[in-house]
Amino acid sequence: MPGNDNVHNSKKNKLDEFYTSLQLIENELKHYRNHFKNKIVLCNCDDPRVSNFFRYFVMFFDVLELKKVIATCYKNDDADLFSQESTEKAVYLEYDGTIKYTGEEDFAKIPCKELKGNGDFRSKECIEFLKQADIVVTNPPFSLFREYITQLVENKKDFLILGNMNAIFYAEIFPLIKNNKLWLGNNSGHFWFQVPDSYEEKATDFKIENGIKYRRMGNICWFTNLDLQKRHEIMETGKKYIESEYPKYDNYNAINVDKTVDIPMDYDGVMGVPITFLAKHNPEQFRIVGETHISDTSEEVEALRTDKNRRHGGFINGKSIYARILIQKIGKQK
Ligand SMILES: C[S@@+](CC[C@H](N)C(=O)[O-])C[C@H]1O[C@@H](n2cnc3c(N)ncnc32)[C@H](O)[C@@H]1O
Repeated sequence: MPGNDNVHNSKKNKLDEFYTSLQLIENELKHYRNHFKNKIVLCNCDDPRVSNFFRYFVMFFDVLELKKVIATCYKNDDADLFSQESTEKAVYLEYDGTIKYTGEEDFAKIPCKELKGNGDFRSKECIEFLKQADIVVTNPPFSLFREYITQLVENKKDFLILGNMNAIFYAEIFPLIKNNKLWLGNNSGHFWFQVPDSYEEKATDFKIENGIKYRRMGNICWFTNLDLQKRHEIMETGKKYIESEYPKYDNYNAINVDKTVDIPMDYDGVMGVPITFLAKHNPEQFRIVGETHISDTSEEVEALRTDKNRRHGGFINGKSIYARILIQKIGKQK
């Protein structure tokens, strides 16, 4: 049952405690300026006064010509702190631009209101906020990513969500990517996130600046269904197909390409490419046939299999190849 903590994690999940910087948000949001006019934006995993998502939309309210921004938080009634999830209470903030933003001090003027429940994005009152919203923008808890995206799609919402690239292969997500209902945003790779004071210090990918702890995370990307310029750019690698350089898999009738920059532009058959390809994917140039990572049972992928017993992963000369997306040039399919 959504929102029932006897069923869901009652303990705070460490993987969920990564807080997004304003810079990371600005660097992505600048590619979607034309989508926000007259829209209601919801940030539904966000401690309102510490969330940089909420901060961004208040700061850029007039520039984006927004109608309203709503932020709801989870298990937190101290809006000035990151949630400790030590209470069943929660708060929310609504901003409609009436209080003009001129500087940091104006955030304190936006009234903080109490939610009836704990702010779980799956709770009835939070779903009511979702229904009101046009676009959802946040970094949701990674441990609930499947449910989070499913809820957005079921409610037919536009979204721009930060997540981990491994989620591409989730059964709830890959079909959406394949059918052009969800795609990767502009930026992806390694990014720094603020972590709680209690976070254990690490030797690598960790820093403390002005007393604040940060952790660098790899494989991060934005998941969205908002159109963006990058999705219309034609990729050109300058590479041509040479049989000896692009071996076929032992178990798929497709060639293997180890790097996106090595995709042979003149190859008409199916190619297995790394997941990073999706950050450059233009659906007018290539179509997504399937994937080799989990058992893709679509008719087309079954027809490509040359060894029905080796279903997980592509193999070349018996050696397992890392997860691949199967693609083909548009107009070349039978
Ligand atoms: C990865 S953090 C990101 C926080 C914030 N969106 C940001 O980007 O800085 C995920 C947040 O989701 C909250 N959260 C965890 N479970 C939740 C739930 N069931 N419903 C709503 N929020 C939840 C956590 O308290 C945490 O603040």
